[in-house]
Amino acid sequence: MSEHFAEFYQRSIDDRDGFWAEQAELIDWQQKPSQICDYSHPPFARWFVGGVTNLCHNAVDRHLATRSDQNALIAVSTETNTEKTYTYKELHTEVSRMAAVLQALGVEKGDRVQIYMPMIAEACFAMLACVRLGAIHTVVFGGFASGALASRIDDAQPKVIISADAGSRGGRVVAYKPLLDEALKQSTHQPAAVLMVNRGLAEMPMSAGRDHDWAALRAQHLDAQVECVWVESTHPSYILYTSGTTGKPKGVQRDTGGYTVALAASMPHIFDAQAGQTFFCTSDIGWVVGHSYIIYAPLIAGMATVMYEGLPIRPDAGIWWSLVEKYKVTHMFSAPTAIRVLKKHEAEHLTRYDISSLKALWLAGEPLDEPTAAWISAAIKKPIVDNYWQTETGWPIMTLCNGVEPQSTRFGSPGKAVYGYNVKLIDDATGQELTEPNQKGVLAMEGPLPPGCMQTVWRDDQRFINTYWKSIPGRLVYSTFDWGIRDADGYYFILGRTDDVINVAGHRLGTREIEEVISSHAQVAEVAVVGVADSLKGQVALAFAVVRDANVVADEASCKNLEADVMKLVDSALGAVARPQRVLFVTALPKTRSGKLLRRALQAVAEGRDPGDLSTMEDPAALAQVQSRL
Ligand code: PRX
Repeated sequence: MSEHFAEFYQRSIDDRDGFWAEQAELIDWQQKPSQICDYSHPPFARWFVGGVTNLCHNAVDRHLATRSDQNALIAVSTETNTEKTYTYKELHTEVSRMAAVLQALGVEKGDRVQIYMPMIAEACFAMLACVRLGAIHTVVFGGFASGALASRIDDAQPKVIISADAGSRGGRVVAYKPLLDEALKQSTHQPAAVLMVNRGLAEMPMSAGRDHDWAALRAQHLDAQVECVWVESTHPSYILYTSGTTGKPKGVQRDTGGYTVALAASMPHIFDAQAGQTFFCTSDIGWVVGHSYIIYAPLIAGMATVMYEGLPIRPDAGIWWSLVEKYKVTHMFSAPTAIRVLKKHEAEHLTRYDISSLKALWLAGEPLDEPTAAWISAAIKKPIVDNYWQTETGWPIMTLCNGVEPQSTRFGSPGKAVYGYNVKLIDDATGQELTEPNQKGVLAMEGPLPPGCMQTVWRDDQRFINTYWKSIPGRLVYSTFDWGIRDADGYYFILGRTDDVINVAGHRLGTREIEEVISSHAQVAEVAVVGVADSLKGQVALAFAVVRDANVVADEASCKNLEADVMKLVDSALGAVARPQRVLFVTALPKTRSGKLLRRALQAVAEGRDPGDLSTMEDPAALAQVQSRL
């Protein structure tokens, strides 16, 4: 008889090393670990110490003996109307070619490689080729623009940057090369080489000596045999930047062995998935969900993975479901926003196809509201499984581990704490643990974090400690920066962030980054960006800017012009994903007498809620002015 989830979970906490030693058997090691977890220097956890492995070997090479002719990668683009399937053997060949090209460009173990690419097969080859060589990839979401790219280039200092001529969204081509060239003008660090994939969508000006054409170099390495570089379990596999409270994104650094084991274990336990099945995750490789569940986990598990470039509703709202039918997708993973987009269309688009292969739909990245969950559940008549996690963790913190034991769903809850995560609710004022049901507290985790979670902030151990482990007074616990409650049955409910991070259409954005860009505008004296509830995107960003010339505020045409100008500035610095929905101009922002911005009050007013206690407010007229602009 299989184990009950409660026992399985408890074992992972009480017998941590025994539990994870068992999970470590799910992957190939060139040399087995001599120690499961070294937590002698909290909060730094070193998993599978002494173990030697390779992520690409586990995702690709080890399947060649048993499934070389089975599908590994299915790359579909409704932007270019192309569909290409790669078997494990073909994937191995392409990854080897990419690895040979990177080697020829000087890439070695430990070097960083930045990947700024759309959702094309070459992006998958690039990620796998990096980890094959022990190089550390850092993927930057294709929706980001020059300023965001430049700061990541300076922080990660890549030896090589891999990019493409363009991405495309809803038929609109976005040329990447000019954005990259502009970023390289802004950054201090310069890569030795830039490798460009030409899709034939946009002009791709090449800089002689630095820029190389992928097709030309690939042709020189068609028969390349590049062995996997075996690395220590604790060797970094990648850096992925994410937003926090400050304007400077954090480089979340992930290890190799812990991540490979965590993902390998998540497939049977969380997803009830097996080799030979097909996983379709609709995220983007620029986000953590894409890293873990488009690329690595399905391949580690020997499944086929669908990589999709395009919108969920183009050519119509049936497109994803037609792919489910065509490729017999068994597991689908998406975000609530995408479902809310589909919900605006007729449900019959989804059921026009034979989706009987599909076992369930997993949703993550932002709160899954009950009406959306109920609608999609009724439309496709499949289990809908919410799951809650973060860039920092790399795999779910909370969900229902239906592969261990099927459990009933509660809409509005992402389920229970996942094995390995010692989740606590903490009173933010006292640091005390809240043990009674239905008490609201900060969601936190006792160390060590399980395998697969971030090792540190890239090149900034102190920032890792200060940001995540020092926010709760008197206790060394990891803060998720989310509020939560737990009911009497152990089901959690997420109640929003404790910091200034916002979640727009499942995209995590830092309001401070957006503020820094807007305040660089010559006519802006001060600005506050807040996240405001939105029925489609979950949240949208609203900016309230104090103008240097107060006359602008009174003149509607001037406001409109300045608003467009500010939005353009955000587009060029960070990218359209960070563009506020509105920029509203005022002469003052609501502050306390000590000069602290009253963000919560601003947000409440913008959402039409009661701003609460305003007794500490310096100038109540400022809030009234904000209200009048909405
Ligand atoms: O606030 C939580 C929200 O998204 C944040 C993490 O975002 P990101 O680093 O982009 O990682 C996404 C990985 C799925 C969390 O701190 N969040 C994520 N999933 C959920 C969620 N909020 C509510 N319910 C969820 N299922």
